[in-house]
Amino acid sequence: MPSDIAVTTPARQPLTQQRRVVTSIPGPKSVAMQERRLAAVGNSVGAVLPTYIERAEGSILLDVDGNQLLDFGSGIAVNALGHGRPEIADAVRAQLDDFAHTCFTVSPYEEYVAVCEQLNAHTPGDFEKRSVLFSSGSEAVENAVKIARSTTGRQGIVAFDYGYHGRTYMAMALTAKALPYKSGFAPFPAEVYRAPFPYSYRWPTGEANTLEEAFAAFVDSVHTQVGEKNVAAVIFEPILGEAGFIVPPAGYWKRVADWCALHGILVIADEVQTGFCRTGDWFASSYEGIEPDLVVTGKAIANGYPLAGVTGRASILDAVPKGGLGGTYAGNGIACAAALATMKIMDEVDAPALARTIGTKIVARLTALQQKYDVIGEIRGRGAMIGIEFVLGAGDKTPHPEMAAAFVAACHREGLLVMVTGDKKQCIRLLPPLTISDELLDDALDVMERAVATAA
Ligand SMILES: Cc1ncc(COP(=O)(O)O)c(C=O)c1O
Repeated sequence: MPSDIAVTTPARQPLTQQRRVVTSIPGPKSVAMQERRLAAVGNSVGAVLPTYIERAEGSILLDVDGNQLLDFGSGIAVNALGHGRPEIADAVRAQLDDFAHTCFTVSPYEEYVAVCEQLNAHTPGDFEKRSVLFSSGSEAVENAVKIARSTTGRQGIVAFDYGYHGRTYMAMALTAKALPYKSGFAPFPAEVYRAPFPYSYRWPTGEANTLEEAFAAFVDSVHTQVGEKNVAAVIFEPILGEAGFIVPPAGYWKRVADWCALHGILVIADEVQTGFCRTGDWFASSYEGIEPDLVVTGKAIANGYPLAGVTGRASILDAVPKGGLGGTYAGNGIACAAALATMKIMDEVDAPALARTIGTKIVARLTALQQKYDVIGEIRGRGAMIGIEFVLGAGDKTPHPEMAAAFVAACHREGLLVMVTGDKKQCIRLLPPLTISDELLDDALDVMERAVATAA
């Protein structure tokens, strides 16, 4: 081709922000792709819905068969600002033009520093802070434990029943659920202790007793299992994620945090899932009125680029010896550029307020539905992190995983991507993009209403 002929690529049509199902879900091309996958990818890697995605924009995923799915998973609480946000793509492109990677511990760069400044400013606590960056939530959890042990000189780490903290070894040890996360992978790192979680809906002596009894059981389990002075840190998710969006009674974490402070035990809030505006605050710890010594972040921090962090008191983070923390890709330049753009947009659009509005709307519709269908045992969560727990109904709170599976299948058939969760797979988690339109939110709630009717 002569070199003076300009070649222009036709502009790509934006993806219409509409749910559209044109084949069975998954469609024939996805089914063929799944066969390829089974022959190439290890079987241990799961798939919520094996429709293969070609493009994603806003709240919509376009699959290889031309179906447009409405995304109520957001890559498991990652794409809080929706897919394909142009400002983030521009920031990433600009960073690519500058450099992709130097390794911050070899040749540092401003973007890493700027992300730490933003984390220090946005996490709860009006004290001097420091941050360190990593590439995944699990890695950040591991490092929070390293920091806590190194600075306190103590070994014990207390985690909670139902908790989820990731899949690397220390994170897995802190995670409560055996199947599928831990079974067969033992032995785990030592010095991990577990306390009961205040799961009000299922507290044996009733909801009203949860706070006092759970707190007493927590104190007792720390005292008897390990001894206060041997505990470096207590780690918890402010709202349980994988376990089904379980919200502890108001004031519970404050009681725990105050007690920890009395005993020189550090408080680690694992905000990997709850952080970055998802629950209606920048961080769920703020709502709880606590200022954790360490806050672990990940997921939505960069709206889809692998980044995570640990932020906390300067005195704690600075006490770890130089070279003790880091990693080749930790705080990668491109991920940092994406994080800076993400946090700027979250500030500009007041993302916490968006999450609160979404939550109010979802809870109102689902509560009305609960009046009709007693298999909806509980609707819970905060902001745009709302869960449904299905039970047998008629006063019987036995978990109902079959109902959850049927509900999810009905949603998937209509092109609404929702995920099942909970210790018995009896819960649904709803994690829409915080930027979802009213129309799409209403559309999703209509689908869910039909799905409950079909499944029940
Ligand atoms: C609360 C919590 N902590 C840690 C993790 C682990 O993060 P990652 O999967 O990025 O390693 C997750 C992931 O779901 C999480 O929800």
